[in-house]
Amino acid sequence: MKKLKLGLLVSGNGSNLQAIMDASEKGEIDAVVAVVISNRHKVYALERAKKHHIPSFVVPQGTLQEKEIHKILEQYSVDLVCLAGFLKILSKDFVQKFPNQIINIHPALLPSFPGLHAIEQALKAGAKKTGVTLHFVDEGVDTGPILLQEEVSILKDDTVETLTARIHQVEHRLYPQAIQLIATERLKIKEGRV
Ligand code: GRF
Repeated sequence: MKKLKLGLLVSGNGSNLQAIMDASEKGEIDAVVAVVISNRHKVYALERAKKHHIPSFVVPQGTLQEKEIHKILEQYSVDLVCLAGFLKILSKDFVQKFPNQIINIHPALLPSFPGLHAIEQALKAGAKKTGVTLHFVDEGVDTGPILLQEEVSILKDDTVETLTARIHQVEHRLYPQAIQLIATERLKIKEGRV
């Protein structure tokens, strides 16, 4: 079976990248990480890619940034673009070039708490539950068709750190699952819904 080629877009620690590389190496998903692209220099995600001998590139902010990212993704024949802590909003033009081929992970149950600092937002609101969402990327911010979600309870004594740790655990399990659903073509998008 042909494996899905993934292009990972990152900006930071890269623990989700790690989970995806591990799942791929263990044969848990029919997908391989073909290339990693960061918009920031010296982030730990780049080290992780290096350790797994995966080609990586830094494409910093600039007028040609998206053009360059697009070129690299084409060069590595990427089938699916996976945003994993990528701290930049992609333009409408870019998103339209990859229809239903970009997915993102968000640390809340969308449509609740979109945008930045979703974990802090949930804590601040006194929410009793939050979670993790995997969704296709459309032209909005955290608005595309929802692919997978899992709830995480917020405990009475939770801090940003403790809640983040539990959310990350779920993320690391859910992201490979979402990729596998796509790799095995077990979903359809109809009228904006998966
Ligand atoms: C994750 O919490 C993800 O939901 C959010 O950014 C974080 C990235 O973490 N979009 P990491 O870089 O994968 O460790």
